[in-house]
Amino acid sequence: MTRKRTAILISGRGSNMSALIAAASDAGYPAEIALVGSNRPEAAGLQRAAEAGIPTAIVDHTIYGKDRTAFERALHDVLLQHRIQIICLAGFMRLLSPWFIAQWPNRILNIHPALLPSFKGLDTHRRAIEAGASEHGATVHFVVAEMDSGPVVAQGRVPLFPDDTETALAARVLAVEHRIYPLALKLVASDRVRVDDGRCIVCGAVSAEEATLLPRHPAH
Ligand code: GAR
Repeated sequence: MTRKRTAILISGRGSNMSALIAAASDAGYPAEIALVGSNRPEAAGLQRAAEAGIPTAIVDHTIYGKDRTAFERALHDVLLQHRIQIICLAGFMRLLSPWFIAQWPNRILNIHPALLPSFKGLDTHRRAIEAGASEHGATVHFVVAEMDSGPVVAQGRVPLFPDDTETALAARVLAVEHRIYPLALKLVASDRVRVDDGRCIVCGAVSAEEATLLPRHPAH
């Protein structure tokens, strides 16, 4: 098995990055983390990636001003230089243009801290509490041009309690993020996810625990 060369793009602390690096430290895992890239030179995760012996790259969006195309072309070039096959956005807080996304069809994954399609965008935990939701969670999905909207690869649910604080809820969701992202990358990197009519179909056996993290499709 050739492991898929995977880049993780971050903007901040990189706890999901660390979960992916830990999963990929197993030689049997189908993806190797070949690059960690950041649009922010001060992202704490860069240091952690370097300590793990992973090549890092900074493509600082601020030096491109309002020229998003130039920023994305620079990012794309770095990914090509490192012969990247799969991109994992992990707290990467830049919207990607349709041009960039078209260069990587069904090869960009993102993690979002909500049960999509609920609570797209920012401040998901506060909004879930304010909405009086009884459950919340996180979603890994393929990136498409419309924000937080692509086919769902994995989704993890957590309860939301009436007296929850944003901090407590965020910690509960983050723990589930760290389970679903390694699972989603494993399935995608082993070519077990097919996108059919905007939905992900997973081929092959999954454990009973993993099955609880896959999207449920209504029977045909
Ligand atoms: C995670 O909670 C991730 O779901 C969220 O940013 C956090 C990054 O944490 N992503 C988004 O909100 C994307 N819209 P991390 O840097 O510790 O992985």
